[in-house]
Amino acid sequence: MSSDVFNAGLIGAFYVIIFICGFFLSRYGKPYPMALFTLHKLAAVAAVVYLILIIRRLHHSSALMTGESMIIIVTVLLLIITIVSGGLTSLDKPMPACFLWMHKLLPYAAVAATAVVLYGFMGKR
Ligand code: HEM
Repeated sequence: MSSDVFNAGLIGAFYVIIFICGFFLSRYGKPYPMALFTLHKLAAVAAVVYLILIIRRLHHSSALMTGESMIIIVTVLLLIITIVSGGLTSLDKPMPACFLWMHKLLPYAAVAATAVVLYGFMGKR
Protein backbone atom coordinates (compact mmCIF):
# COMPACT_ATOMS: atom_id res chain seq x y z
CA MET A 1 0.00 0.00 0.00
CA SER A 2 1.46 3.38 -0.93
CA SER A 3 1.99 5.91 1.84
CA ASP A 4 -0.44 8.32 0.10
CA VAL A 5 -3.26 5.80 0.37
CA PHE A 6 -2.27 5.01 3.95
CA ASN A 7 -2.24 8.71 4.91
CA ALA A 8 -5.60 9.40 3.26
CA GLY A 9 -7.08 6.29 4.90
CA LEU A 10 -5.82 7.28 8.34
CA ILE A 11 -7.18 10.83 8.06
CA GLY A 12 -10.45 9.37 6.72
CA ALA A 13 -10.63 7.02 9.73
CA PHE A 14 -10.11 9.95 12.12
CA TYR A 15 -12.93 11.85 10.39
CA VAL A 16 -15.26 8.84 10.63
CA ILE A 17 -14.60 8.63 14.40
CA ILE A 18 -15.09 12.41 14.76
CA PHE A 19 -18.41 12.35 12.86
CA ILE A 20 -19.83 9.29 14.61
CA CYS A 21 -18.95 10.72 18.05
CA GLY A 22 -20.28 14.14 16.98
CA PHE A 23 -23.66 12.76 15.92
CA PHE A 24 -23.98 10.89 19.22
CA LEU A 25 -22.96 14.01 21.15
CA SER A 26 -25.72 15.98 19.41
CA ARG A 27 -28.17 13.24 20.17
CA TYR A 28 -27.32 12.96 23.88
CA GLY A 29 -26.99 16.72 24.43
CA LYS A 30 -25.51 18.41 27.50
CA PRO A 31 -23.96 17.27 29.73
CA TYR A 32 -22.07 15.40 27.03
CA PRO A 33 -20.91 11.86 27.84
CA MET A 34 -17.28 12.35 28.87
CA ALA A 35 -15.78 9.37 27.00
CA LEU A 36 -17.53 10.28 23.73
CA PHE A 37 -16.64 13.95 24.08
CA THR A 38 -12.98 13.12 24.81
CA LEU A 39 -12.76 10.73 21.87
CA HIS A 40 -14.33 13.40 19.60
CA LYS A 41 -11.75 15.98 20.65
CA LEU A 42 -8.77 13.60 20.57
CA ALA A 43 -9.66 12.34 17.09
CA ALA A 44 -10.04 15.97 15.95
CA VAL A 45 -6.60 16.90 17.30
CA ALA A 46 -5.06 13.73 15.81
CA ALA A 47 -6.58 14.43 12.37
CA VAL A 48 -5.41 18.05 12.33
CA VAL A 49 -1.89 17.28 13.60
CA TYR A 50 -1.47 14.40 11.15
CA LEU A 51 -2.73 16.52 8.24
CA ILE A 52 -0.31 19.31 9.13
CA LEU A 53 2.57 16.79 9.29
CA ILE A 54 1.68 15.47 5.82
CA ILE A 55 1.49 19.00 4.41
CA ARG A 56 4.80 19.98 6.02
CA ARG A 57 6.58 16.95 4.62
CA LEU A 58 5.25 17.53 1.11
CA HIS A 59 6.06 21.21 1.33
CA HIS A 60 9.69 20.36 2.13
CA SER A 61 10.02 17.88 -0.71
CA SER A 62 8.41 19.96 -3.49
CA ALA A 63 7.53 23.62 -4.00
CA LEU A 64 3.83 24.45 -3.66
CA MET A 65 1.97 26.33 -6.37
CA THR A 66 -0.28 29.26 -5.49
CA GLY A 67 -3.48 27.24 -5.94
CA GLU A 68 -2.17 24.50 -3.67
CA SER A 69 -1.15 26.99 -1.00
CA MET A 70 -4.60 28.60 -1.19
CA ILE A 71 -6.51 25.36 -0.69
CA ILE A 72 -4.20 24.43 2.21
CA ILE A 73 -4.84 27.78 3.88
CA VAL A 74 -8.62 27.42 3.37
CA THR A 75 -8.53 23.87 4.79
CA VAL A 76 -6.56 24.88 7.88
CA LEU A 77 -8.86 27.90 8.44
CA LEU A 78 -11.95 25.70 8.13
CA LEU A 79 -10.50 23.25 10.65
CA ILE A 80 -9.58 26.03 13.08
CA ILE A 81 -13.09 27.56 12.88
CA THR A 82 -14.66 24.09 13.27
CA ILE A 83 -12.57 23.41 16.39
CA VAL A 84 -13.23 26.85 17.89
CA SER A 85 -16.98 26.61 17.21
CA GLY A 86 -16.97 23.11 18.76
CA GLY A 87 -15.23 24.45 21.84
CA LEU A 88 -17.70 27.34 22.17
CA THR A 89 -20.67 25.03 21.60
CA SER A 90 -19.52 22.74 24.39
CA LEU A 91 -19.26 25.49 27.03
CA ASP A 92 -21.69 25.33 29.95
CA LYS A 93 -22.89 28.90 29.53
CA PRO A 94 -25.43 29.72 26.78
CA MET A 95 -23.85 30.66 23.44
CA PRO A 96 -25.37 32.21 20.29
CA ALA A 97 -26.96 29.49 18.13
CA CYS A 98 -24.72 30.51 15.21
CA PHE A 99 -21.78 28.66 16.81
CA LEU A 100 -23.76 25.43 16.95
CA TRP A 101 -24.81 25.87 13.33
CA MET A 102 -21.24 26.60 12.30
CA HIS A 103 -20.19 23.40 14.03
CA LYS A 104 -22.93 21.43 12.31
CA LEU A 105 -22.14 22.74 8.80
CA LEU A 106 -18.40 23.48 8.64
CA PRO A 107 -17.25 19.88 9.24
CA TYR A 108 -18.58 18.95 5.78
CA ALA A 109 -16.64 21.79 4.16
CA ALA A 110 -13.55 20.77 6.17
CA VAL A 111 -13.82 17.17 4.99
CA ALA A 112 -14.26 18.26 1.36
CA ALA A 113 -11.29 20.63 1.58
CA THR A 114 -9.14 17.95 3.25
CA ALA A 115 -10.04 15.51 0.48
CA VAL A 116 -9.00 18.07 -2.15
CA VAL A 117 -5.66 18.62 -0.39
CA LEU A 118 -4.93 14.90 -0.01
CA TYR A 119 -6.02 14.10 -3.57
CA GLY A 120 -3.99 17.01 -4.92
CA PHE A 121 -0.88 15.71 -3.20
CA MET A 122 -1.30 12.08 -4.23
CA GLY A 123 1.83 10.85 -5.96
CA LYS A 124 3.69 14.15 -5.33
CA ARG A 125 7.14 13.91 -3.75
C1 HEM B 1 -11.89 18.53 13.05
C2 HEM B 1 -12.62 18.98 14.04
C3 HEM B 1 -14.07 18.61 14.30
C4 HEM B 1 -15.01 18.11 13.44
C5 HEM B 1 -14.86 17.75 11.96
C6 HEM B 1 -16.24 17.98 14.21
C7 HEM B 1 -17.44 17.49 13.70
C8 HEM B 1 -18.63 17.39 14.41
C9 HEM B 1 -19.87 16.90 13.87
C10 HEM B 1 -20.07 16.41 12.42
C11 HEM B 1 -20.80 16.96 14.85
C12 HEM B 1 -22.27 16.55 14.72
C13 HEM B 1 -23.08 17.77 14.29
C14 HEM B 1 -24.52 17.42 13.95
O1 HEM B 1 -25.24 16.91 14.78
O2 HEM B 1 -24.94 17.68 12.80
C15 HEM B 1 -20.14 17.49 16.03
C16 HEM B 1 -20.75 17.73 17.24
C17 HEM B 1 -20.12 18.28 18.31
N1 HEM B 1 -18.79 18.65 18.41
FE1 HEM B 1 -17.41 18.49 16.99
N2 HEM B 1 -16.00 18.39 15.49
C18 HEM B 1 -14.70 18.77 15.59
C19 HEM B 1 -14.04 19.24 16.71
C20 HEM B 1 -14.65 19.48 17.90
C21 HEM B 1 -13.98 20.02 19.06
C22 HEM B 1 -12.49 20.36 19.13
C23 HEM B 1 -14.94 20.15 20.04
C24 HEM B 1 -14.83 20.65 21.42
C25 HEM B 1 -13.79 21.24 21.97
C26 HEM B 1 -16.19 19.69 19.49
C27 HEM B 1 -17.39 19.67 20.16
C28 HEM B 1 -18.57 19.18 19.66
C29 HEM B 1 -19.82 19.17 20.41
C30 HEM B 1 -20.02 19.68 21.81
C31 HEM B 1 -20.80 18.60 19.55
C32 HEM B 1 -22.27 18.37 19.86
C33 HEM B 1 -23.03 19.65 19.47
C34 HEM B 1 -24.52 19.52 19.78
O3 HEM B 1 -24.87 19.58 20.97
O4 HEM B 1 -25.31 19.35 18.82
N3 HEM B 1 -15.97 19.28 18.18
N4 HEM B 1 -18.82 17.74 15.72
